[in-house]
Order: sequence, then structure tokens, then C-alpha cells
Amino acid sequence: MFVALRACQCTHPITVVCHSDIHQARNEWGIAVYPLMPGHEIVGKVTEVGANVSKHKVGDLVGVGCMVDSCRQCEACAQDLEQYCLEGPTMTYATPDRVDGSNTMGGYSNSIVVSEHFVVRIPEKLDLAAAAPILCAGITTYSPLKHYGVKAGDKVGVLGMGGLGHMGIKFAKAMGAEVTLFTRSASKAEEGRRQGADHVIVSTDAEQMKAAAGHFDFLLDTIPVQHDLNPYLETLSFDGVHILVGLIEPVDPALHAANLVMKRRVLAGSLIGGIAETQEVLDFCAEHGITCDIEMLDIKNINEAYSRMIAGDVKYRFVIDMATLKA
Ligand SMILES: NC(=O)c1ccc[n+]([C@@H]2O[C@H](COP(=O)([O-])OP(=O)(O)OC[C@H]3O[C@@H](n4cnc5c(N)ncnc54)[C@H](OP(=O)(O)O)[C@@H]3O)[C@@H](O)[C@H]2O)c1
Ligand SMILES: [Zn+2]
Ligand SMILES: [Zn+2]
Repeated sequence: MFVALRACQCTHPITVVCHSDIHQARNEWGIAVYPLMPGHEIVGKVTEVGANVSKHKVGDLVGVGCMVDSCRQCEACAQDLEQYCLEGPTMTYATPDRVDGSNTMGGYSNSIVVSEHFVVRIPEKLDLAAAAPILCAGITTYSPLKHYGVKAGDKVGVLGMGGLGHMGIKFAKAMGAEVTLFTRSASKAEEGRRQGADHVIVSTDAEQMKAAAGHFDFLLDTIPVQHDLNPYLETLSFDGVHILVGLIEPVDPALHAANLVMKRRVLAGSLIGGIAETQEVLDFCAEHGITCDIEMLDIKNINEAYSRMIAGDVKYRFVIDMATLKA
């Protein structure tokens, strides 16, 4: 059954550099398996389909995000939440394949073969390269905003403006929220406003943080390293929600529970989004004219790109045209 569905093949795909690729390549989460081929924001044209494929055909513009398989039967999968598959989703790279047990290999490659369920349609209106990061940076920020019902007039803070953060600003703005960027870098203030932020708070300025106390309904936290959550929680109103998408490590320094208890605040996390919702966010982007800000990258310079990302020196996603690999 599964093999019959393994059917879509893209050649010369475009792929993108996500900060998760750095965490994995450097084993910062302690779960990397080598050899490792990162890349989970992949777009290309279908070049071949298997006999039982009905969702896509040769020539279609398609995308593959962070997952390539799941059990498809559990409670989570049944709700189109494959990312929370109770048996564990098969991620696009560095996860054992469900059929042969080999490690999955991601998008820094010439082609990929994926089960049709995990392949999404790229709307024609979208520029392919600028759409590719929607498959991770986009869905990861869209999903929690949708899940927690962010709506017009809500006060939303986005923590960190990198690949995820700049998309978070665009989505929150498109949903009608009043958006504030929290950034370490005062120099990003103007850029933040250009992305759609109504306000900017420099998070290293204790006075600015204090002045925002009790203000926000929702915080989308994309910061990729341990950081003190307490000053951010204090900027939430009662019933405010702080969603972690960047931090996949112990919280340090410790969280003061009073920052939650005294105002019925919620601290939670969120992982990418399901396949149906990934299609939804692509369609949302086409409808609202949203794409990612990108810089093209030659794959030969990948190590330099990682260093630049860590230094915050990319606006805001590096995109690799894999055709350059052949040059
Ligand atoms: N949950 C999920 O499903 C999911 C999906 C994809 C990625 N992720 C994770 O989300 C995180 C962000 O990914 P990304 O690709 O957006 O990364 P990125 O492009 O490197 O952006 C991260 C941003 O966080 C801020 N930042 C970086 N280092 C910081 C530090 N030491 N202290 C405080 N702020 C810092 C910076 O913004 P400012 O300069 O504006 O402060 C930076 O631009 C990564 O950890 C990635 O693995 C999670
Ligand atoms: Zn990613
Ligand atoms: Zn499942």
C-alpha cells in the first residue's frame, strides 16, 4: 500500500535553509543521525508518478515540507495533524523510513520521492523560490496563530525576526492583529515595520520591556536558543498565550510559575502544521499576496550561510536552486 503511494518525484528542486538544519547538522538537539542531508522546504515540478497516484500529475508545481510520512491511522493523523502522529511522524530528513528503515534524506539534493499525501500544490500565483519557505517557516507560524484564534484587533507580539519571525509578522498582520516585533537588534526596527509590524520593542532594553507589561494577547516565540521567558510572560495580559516554536530545550533560566498562575496565562508549544493546513497556508499566501523574503544561495557556500544565519545576517531565508549543484 505505502509503496504504491510513493510516487511523486521532483527534479531540480529549490530548497531552503531553515535554522533547524543548523541544529541538526551540528547535533544541537542530540538526535541527529549521520550521514545527514538537511532541507525541508522543497519545491519543484513532478517528473514521474506511480500507478496509483491521483493527487498530482507530471508537470505539477508541488512542495514537500517537514514530513514525508506518518502512520495515517492514529487519532492525530485522523484529524489531519500528522505532525503529532502518535507513532511519530517520519520527518523529511534524519528519521527512519517507515518501509525500509533507512534514514530519510532531505532537500539539499537533486530529487526526492515522496508519498503523494505529503506533497502539496504550490499555487501558480506564488513565486516558487519565495514560496518554498512557507513549507516550514510559514506553516510553523501560521498554525499556532490559527489554532489560538488570533483575530482582528488582537495584540500579537512576535519574538525574533528571522525566517519564522518575519512570516509570523506577515500572517498576524493579514489576520488583522496589531503586531509588535520583539527583537534584540535595534537596527531591525525599520525592517520590522516594513514587514508589517506596527510597533517594535528592543528586548534587551529593560525599560521598553517593562513599559509593555500586561499588554499582549498572544506571543509567538521564534527565538532558537535558551532565553528568559519571564520578562516576555509579564508583557501578556490575563489569559494571554505564549507559544514556543523556536525552543526545543529545557527552559533556562527557570520559569517563575507566578507569571502564569496569577494571570491565568498559557505557555505552550507548537510543531509545524498538518498537510491539509500546509495546503491551507499556501492558499492563504496566494490570496493575501504573502511570500517570504529570500536570498539566493549557491550550495557551495552552505557553511558560510549557516554562520550568517547565526549572526542574524540573512533577509530572511537562504534559498538554494539545486540546479547550481550540477553547474
Ligand atoms: N516548532 C517548529 O515546528 C519549528 C519549525 C521550524 C523551525 N523551528 C525552530 O524555530 C527557530 C527559529 O528558526 P528560524 O529559521 O526562524 O531561525 P533564524 O532565521 O535564525 O531566526 C531566529 C531569530 O531569533 C532571534 N535570535 C537569534 N539568536 C538569538 C539569541 N541568541 N537570543 C535572542 N534572540 C535570538 C533573531 O531575531 P532578532 O535579531 O530579531 O532578535 C533571529 O533572527 C529555530 O530554533 C528552528 O529550529 C521550529
Ligand atoms: Zn524548518
Ligand atoms: Zn499517526
